Formats: sequence, structure tokens, C-alpha cells
Amino acid sequence: MAQRVQGTEDLFGDYMRAWQRMSDIARDLFGAYGFDMIETPALEQVDTFVHGIGESTDVVRKEMFRVFSGALLEGMLEKGTEKYLKPRQRMAMRPEGTAGVVRAAVEHNFVPQGAAPAKLWYAEAMFRGERPQKGRLRQFHQIGVEWLGASDPAADAECIIMLMEFYKRLGFSDSDLKLSINSMGDAACRPAYRNKVRDFILDHADEMCEECRERAELNPLRAFDCKNDHCREIMASAPLAPDNLCDECAAHYDAVKKYLDAAGVAYVEDPTLVRGLDYYTRTVFEVEALGAGIGSIGGGGRYDGLMELEGGRPTPGLGFAVGFERIVLALQAKGIDPYGEKSSCVYVAHTPGVTERDAVFDICLMLRNAGIHTEADYQGRSLKSQFKQADRLAAKLCVVVGAEEVAEGVVTVRNMATHEQTRVSKDELVNYILTNLAEV
Ligand code: HAM
Repeated sequence: MAQRVQGTEDLFGDYMRAWQRMSDIARDLFGAYGFDMIETPALEQVDTFVHGIGESTDVVRKEMFRVFSGALLEGMLEKGTEKYLKPRQRMAMRPEGTAGVVRAAVEHNFVPQGAAPAKLWYAEAMFRGERPQKGRLRQFHQIGVEWLGASDPAADAECIIMLMEFYKRLGFSDSDLKLSINSMGDAACRPAYRNKVRDFILDHADEMCEECRERAELNPLRAFDCKNDHCREIMASAPLAPDNLCDECAAHYDAVKKYLDAAGVAYVEDPTLVRGLDYYTRTVFEVEALGAGIGSIGGGGRYDGLMELEGGRPTPGLGFAVGFERIVLALQAKGIDPYGEKSSCVYVAHTPGVTERDAVFDICLMLRNAGIHTEADYQGRSLKSQFKQADRLAAKLCVVVGAEEVAEGVVTVRNMATHEQTRVSKDELVNYILTNLAEV
């Protein structure tokens, strides 16, 4: 029997409803902040991610799913290298959404010089070749926002405020979550800081793991995230980003914190928070669900150099993404219902007979044309089992059609909770249902 790929999930039933509910909350909330929806292709040129996320990151080096057509693969195996492939033939499934949105913004000139910022959000599948475990999938779903063309620290704060409100609308309370923030500096101060951390690692090289020794030259800041406890102990005394900011970055960071304080958003400053993607400058942030044991449920930050890295004009940018599957796990761990209510439906039941069956067909059309979720029996079941089915579908009202009723142009409407029955004329049925469905 064919099975799904390890680390991927089918979205259906309650789980699908949870995804739709999360997307609906995002549409309402992000819409109120002026964000429009965007969808970029799941397949991008490898260069989009190499330029944006960074060649030395784990995401690009180890986790990106590369895609080759059968013909390209054959050619590569024959030649023993992929080097002859043209950039447009080197493709990958997107491991995250930011690089693709910024690539699209450059390609379609979303932020012409002097124009208003582009504010975009997405709800999409992402792909990372990670070792599957709880909350870590190879195909997962993110809801994210990208705000291109805003340099003001108030924008950083607004993004974070909007993110925390998103979690609140999903059902989390403030005490369920931990928001960590940091500033990683910019092109002016980060290179010198990066060299300081590199030198620190080289000074402690003999006590650190092989991967950290490799990181020293390649991506020294990632050593703060090493899985090895001993490395992390050593890194606790490494130079910290907030102590090495230039005046502009320090002022920007102070302003972000001031706005967050003014909005009453609680945060923890974590000077070792570095994030796994290279494009970040200045503000970075992550959110964890306390006690859920599944890592971050969202994260983001500013990326003022990314538009240029993707071939565009210098344009500031910032954003965040949340992970759908991890949020569902975190909500469940807190005992909060992630699924949302099923829409209530009306069930149209009938006694056996062709006349009655035809009347049911008519009534269903009429109710559905009025936008009412309507279900009926298509298997010739007895009236008793039709009522059982109506209960299974959580129908609040049941329309019962018998031969006598058809002759008189009326139906019986049964309240499924109280079993109270009312005769209603067919002409009045839509109005009756609309009024009473809201009340039961
Ligand atoms: P990220 O921190 O790599 O950031 O991912 C954001 C969220 O996606 C994580 O907090 C987590 O909830 C979820 N996630 C990541 N990897 C997995 C996985 N393998 N399985 C399940 N969930 C996962 C970004 O992707 C940035 N693009 C965010 C951003 C937008 N920064 C600026 N704009």
C-alpha cells in the first residue's frame, strides 16, 4: 500500500478546519493592518534561497529539497556533476516564504522608489529536509507576513504586536507564551561583531565540537544555537550582539522596546537569539509556547539588506512566520481547542416515496441557494436512521417531508435538541430556518 512521505501530513477533517480557521484569523487581523495576500510558487530557483537565506546556513546547505526533472537527473548522473546546469535549471522547493516574496517584489517592482510600502501575507506549505519528529516536519505550513519599504522601529513593534494578537485570537493567553527579542546589528556593525565571535570560538576551539569549529569561519553566530551543552556553556561568555551595536542600531533597538512597552507587550531580551537565516539585520524575535516542548511557534525580524541581495534597490523589510502544525500541538498541550466549531447544518429527512424524494431535492436547492448548509439522505435510509445521521452531522434543525405534507405544501421542522416540531409552509421555510438557526 502506498504511504505518504515521512514527515508529511494529510490535511483533512478537524485538522483542515484548524488550518482554515488560522488562515481566517490571519486574513481578518492582517487585513486590518493593511496586508494583502500573496502566493508565490513552491518551486524557486536555488539562487533565490542562496542569495537570501545564505549559502552557509543549515537550511540551504542541508535541508533544502532540490528538484530535478528525470532528464536533468540523467544528464547529471552521466556527467557526474550539476555544475553545467544553468541557474534556471537549478530548482528547489521553498524552505521558507521570505526569499520568494522578496524575489517577487523585485521582479514585479512592488515598491517603486518613493512609493508606499508593500504589505503582504501568505499561508503556504514549506519544505525542509529535516529529520522528522514531533513538531518538525518535512512539509509544514506557515502563515507569514512581509512588510517591504518600512525602516521605522515602530514597524518592528507593530509587527510584533500583530503577531502576539494573532496568538491571542487563536486562544493563547499571555502567560502561555514567551516572546524573546534581540538586535543583531546591521552591515555597519555586524561584520566586526561576527569577527569577534569567530575569534572567541577559535580561542576555545579545542573545547568545542567539530561543527562549531567549522562554524567559526562559515557562520560563527550559529554556535550560540549548538545542540551540544558544553558548547553552549562556553558560548555563554562569548561577546553578545547588543553590546556590539553601532549607535544607529542601538537607538533602533531602544525605540522598538519603547513601543513594545507602550503597547504593554511582554518580552524577554535574549542577547544570544541569532535565528537560522542569514538575512536578518537589527531586530529579531521568536515566540515559544511555554511547557509545550516543541521549539518556536513563530519567529521573524528585520532584513534591510535582502532586497539588494535578491537584485533589487536597497529597501528595508521585515516580517515573521508562524508554524501551523506546531501551533496546533501547542494549543492541544494547553487544552485549548484548535479546531473551531463546525458550521451548523440543516438536515432534510423524508418518508419513503418518490414524491417525497423529489420534494427533498427541491427543498435542498432552495435552502442552499439561500446560503444554508443543508444535508440530506441519498441512500434510502429509514426515517429513524436519517435522524441518527442528522445527529452525527450535528444538525440543529431537521426538515421532515412526508406525503401528506407534500400534498399540503408544508413541512415539519424539528428542533434536534428539544425535539419540538413546527409546521411551516414551504414558501416561509427559508425565512423560518434563517431566523431559527441563529437561535438554536
Ligand atoms: P523560521 O523561524 O525558520 O522563520 O520558521 C518560522 C516558523 O515555522 C517556526 O517558528 C516554526 O513554528 C515553523 N517551522 C520551521 N521549521 C519547521 C519544521 N521543519 N516543521 C514544522 N514547523 C516548522 C522563517 O521561516 C522566516 N521566513 C520568518 C520570517 C518572515 N522572517 C521574516 N519574515
